[in-house]
Amino acid sequence: MRLVHFLRKHCELNKQSSQRLLASGRVRVDGNVVRDPGCRVTPYCTIALDDKALQTGTPCYLMLHKPAGVVSATQHPEHPTVLDLVPNEWHPGLHLAGRLDLNTTGLLLLTNDGLWSKQLSRPEHKVDKVYRVQTQHPIDSRYIKQFAEGIYFSFEGITTAPAELELISKHSARLTLREGRYHQVKRMFGFFDNPVVALHRERIGELTLDPSLAPGDYRSLSPAEIQCLVPTG
Ligand code: URA
Repeated sequence: MRLVHFLRKHCELNKQSSQRLLASGRVRVDGNVVRDPGCRVTPYCTIALDDKALQTGTPCYLMLHKPAGVVSATQHPEHPTVLDLVPNEWHPGLHLAGRLDLNTTGLLLLTNDGLWSKQLSRPEHKVDKVYRVQTQHPIDSRYIKQFAEGIYFSFEGITTAPAELELISKHSARLTLREGRYHQVKRMFGFFDNPVVALHRERIGELTLDPSLAPGDYRSLSPAEIQCLVPTG
């Protein structure tokens, strides 16, 4: 349903008044101000006028084992998306809480709760993100020191936050980051001209990818899992 139609129905307004209400910036969908009358809403969206909830939606939180070759997006002209892995009835309002590159595998979160995903993605929200990395060339102890000190990313003009690297074998390691910059893991190994040949996210904060989930499978998060990622106090 279009948001303008939703407002007409719920607030008993005519078309012009509901358009004016939207233009005033008083309407929020999943925590974001929406002014576009064409915006589509579903029964899963949380819709508020000022501080008054017009629809609370049914919150949904999923963990998904992302396979390689699937895009972390809701639509893509070329590749299947993670939403193609979830049956249609789950779709309304579902969006990604974080992303992984096309060929990265592992833990990905989906939700229709815009506030929850927003909290998760805030830069101040520092949770560990743990990756298993396989590289083309051998990894050595220089990497441990360099990653702990940070690496300068000239494009953004920043130095990465201290990261922990645990060597597993000559060509594989476990890397713990507390931030999520564009292609961060690949760029960090790029500092040593060492291409990442496989990347898998094992854990976000206290939440570990459920080992019973095969690539492409997903399950709902338990209330404790939802709470452990974004504590409400
Ligand atoms: N870092 C990367 O380079 N790729 C990912 O998919 C995630 C983190």
